Amino acid sequence: MNGSNSVTCIAPINIALIKYWGKSNEDYNIPLNSSLSVTLNTNDLCTMSTIYVSDSFLKDEMWLNGKEQNVEKNTRTQRCVKEARRSSLKRCNGEDLNSPPKCHIVSRNNFPTAAGLASSASGYACLAKCLGTIYSSSIDLSVLARLGSGSACRSIYGGFVKWEKGSCGFGSDSKGVQVAPETHWPELKVMILVVSNKQKSVGSTEAMHRSVNTSELLKYRVENCVPKRLQMLENAITEKDFETFSLLTMKESNQLHSICQDTFPPISPPYMNAISHQIVNLVSLYNEKKIRAAYTFDAGPNAVLFTLEEYFDELLATILKYFPGEENDSEFINLSSSTVNSLHDKAVTIDGINVCAGALERIICTTPGPGAYVSPETVPLPDPTDVR
Ligand code: DP6
Repeated sequence: MNGSNSVTCIAPINIALIKYWGKSNEDYNIPLNSSLSVTLNTNDLCTMSTIYVSDSFLKDEMWLNGKEQNVEKNTRTQRCVKEARRSSLKRCNGEDLNSPPKCHIVSRNNFPTAAGLASSASGYACLAKCLGTIYSSSIDLSVLARLGSGSACRSIYGGFVKWEKGSCGFGSDSKGVQVAPETHWPELKVMILVVSNKQKSVGSTEAMHRSVNTSELLKYRVENCVPKRLQMLENAITEKDFETFSLLTMKESNQLHSICQDTFPPISPPYMNAISHQIVNLVSLYNEKKIRAAYTFDAGPNAVLFTLEEYFDELLATILKYFPGEENDSEFINLSSSTVNSLHDKAVTIDGINVCAGALERIICTTPGPGAYVSPETVPLPDPTDVR
């Protein structure tokens, strides 16, 4: 056991460039194929959690964004807590740890959950980091995070991260490995376009289960596309080859959404909506003479765009021209109003794209960032009298 009775950790979200879609083992979240992602900066998007342990706690409890969660019914959280304690017992067999103390976990995201941004990756990476630290667990933290949610195993590390699918039956080698740190490619910039959306589609866990059972395209992809693309993308990252990076990223996104349509019955409503397709068109036309931007979409309509520093102002100005926010919405974009005002004359005209006011809920500009880490801050328990 760690000496102190509370630990706070911060964990990032990550965006897959080579997608994880399909499991060979659903209990342990072991993927059909390896994948590769970029970890995003925790200053802009993160989960922060404090874990408290005490002999006086009668059961494990958890609060997310102020709301109490049902830990007993959450098999993913249960799996992580159980494994962290089991590997703590293994390591400290000299101590009497037959009944390790229960924990209370208080967690919050620094981005609105309603924005539909994948919070399970940062949430379970943060949980794994907290549990592993407080219980001094010997289990690999990326493996522990994967037991909560597959993509979370990549959020343990910063920069560019490959999730090796592994070959051990129980997945002890199915974990994230850093390909390059967050400092490797400082010119690479990220924009998250949060698309206004009221329609809920099928969750990714259920959707990928259905794809595995019904999509022949998924089988083809796993065998023929992913191995080649992974190698090419790793090289493109190492060499900072933006054109190859972009082409692979966009093709991967297109293939994921084709598989969702090849799934039977197809994923409905589709993750990408009319605005998502408008964004694809805009980026494709913007790239006509030279590849200057890349898009990717996961299990929802939001776009993540990648660009280089030299094109950042022009691309953002163009996005703002065609997808303006509501007037006086100070939260629309996480940049100062003077920065935004200075962009106006940098926008380019793209024939064939109509102005869609109000189509975006917000824009988050960010960069690659670090993996999960311990923080000196604290997320207080909802009722401080509970901490005894
Ligand atoms: C489309 O990690 O959310 O974002 O393992 O069932 O929790 P579970 O799924 P999850 O799936 C993410 C799928 C994706 C692609 C990716 O992140 O690689």
